[in-house]
Amino acid sequence: MKVLYVCTEIFPLLKTGGLGDVSGALPPALRDAGCDVRVLLPGFPAIRDGVGPSHLKQAEPLALPARRGPELSALPAQAPMLRPATLPGSELAAYVLDAPALFNRPGNPYADTQGDNGIRFALLGWAAACLGHGLDAYWQPDIVHCHDWHTGLAPLYLRQMAMPGPPRAASVFTIHNLAYQGIFPRTLFPQLGLPDYLFGIDGIEFWGQVSFMKAGLQAADRITTVSPAYAREIMAAEQGCGLDGLLRARSNVVSGILNGVDYAVWSPSRDDALVHPYDVESLEEKVTAKADLQRKIGLQERPDAMVFGVVSRLTEQKGLHLIEAVADELVRAGAQLAVLGAGDAPLEQAFVRAAAKHPGQIAVQVGYNECLAHGIMAGADVLLVPSRFEPCGLTQLYGLRYGALPLVHRVGGLADTVVDTTPENLEAGTATGFVFDEFSTQGLRAALRRAFDLHALPGAWKKVQRTAMGQRFDWREAAGQYAALYRSLIPQTDRIA
Ligand code: ADP
Ligand code: GLC
Repeated sequence: MKVLYVCTEIFPLLKTGGLGDVSGALPPALRDAGCDVRVLLPGFPAIRDGVGPSHLKQAEPLALPARRGPELSALPAQAPMLRPATLPGSELAAYVLDAPALFNRPGNPYADTQGDNGIRFALLGWAAACLGHGLDAYWQPDIVHCHDWHTGLAPLYLRQMAMPGPPRAASVFTIHNLAYQGIFPRTLFPQLGLPDYLFGIDGIEFWGQVSFMKAGLQAADRITTVSPAYAREIMAAEQGCGLDGLLRARSNVVSGILNGVDYAVWSPSRDDALVHPYDVESLEEKVTAKADLQRKIGLQERPDAMVFGVVSRLTEQKGLHLIEAVADELVRAGAQLAVLGAGDAPLEQAFVRAAAKHPGQIAVQVGYNECLAHGIMAGADVLLVPSRFEPCGLTQLYGLRYGALPLVHRVGGLADTVVDTTPENLEAGTATGFVFDEFSTQGLRAALRRAFDLHALPGAWKKVQRTAMGQRFDWREAAGQYAALYRSLIPQTDRIA
């Protein structure tokens, strides 16, 4: 079964959030599950510089046709190419979408610095659809698996392209975050080479504009999202971001497949970022990891202090204003707070102010720092993830593995992965963290109180830590579910052959 995996970021080459981690780990897991996987990526500088030469025998660059079925106009003068390449580490085959005028820019890959994001990511969808229709004579995928709005036009172009020859690939569209939709002014529509009727409510029009997310949801053969709870939540108005009606109408093709963890990257016993590795059998070493973190980030070195950690994009989604609101109380209770994050300026500034008010007890590093992210998982007692909504969330899974008990809002993937320390769950030995229901400082406070109470009982705390560290969210499991979904899309005759 041939699978083209289409995405815009991939660890370790380029990562802005969880999508990068997923794309670094899922394609190799799909290969292990028996799929013949290739990855299609835009030629951002980090991708162009990071990939190796192709190992394939037929490794000639492929020119993207500008006219084939729908016509994509407004392309740069230099014809875009698909360059075969190899991903470092996994050695998977890849195609890099080489269109320097569109992708060879520094900075955040999604920043619309030149007002042409619509064309940039339409081209990515176009390239995926061309491959799905057999552009590479030596390798035509059975499945094109697309991720988030950046790839939303791929399923639509796949359907729209009328091509002689073998049938098109089937498409799977995975929602990692419904809140980011790729909305563009209606003036983009004529440049997309799509028939006029598609600019309507049953097409890709969204309140008078063009929505790439909606394109993916309308046209994909199957839709998945990254946790079962989020799959349910997005079918209702509160989390549906205006697309819940469409999702309900297509509910027979929507499912939730929980993300996994790449334990080769995220395991405290073999973590290159840690000076003092540890595991469940040597939990006393976690105290040393705490001291390492305190020194590194600028907290007072106090082994007795309960350290709360945050590793997060600082955006509205993550609910971190709740943490900021209780920061003084945490310090008064003798705890410390270590924050690593970047994002919205007011939130960044609020945390910086809190750190200035409580030097040595609250420390904040604004920016992106992969190594410190690992240090916080290892050094923290509790990992705070109070998200307003969370499609899956990976940091709480990393917290579990590192024995930094996650304290989370009961929503999306957080609800699916953290077991609250109720007396019953403690008794049953299933508790792994702290979960609160009401999204408010009150709700958060109640969970914090329970965390402090448990921490005062070292034996009970250790028991929960052990259970947490023993949890496994293996990519093998998720890859098996995706492979089964792919198989269900391949015509019966092919499956027998
Ligand atoms: P999201 O994708 O919504 O940001 P996830 O929990 O799925 O949330 O994934 C976030 C990923 O990004 C994790 O690997 C986390 O460690 C990482 N991360 C977030 N912020 C930072 C940061 N400031 N520095 C380093 N890594 C970060
Ligand atoms: C998105 C979501 C996050 C999820 C990640 C990977 O960024 O916000 O919850 O874990 O994608 O699927």
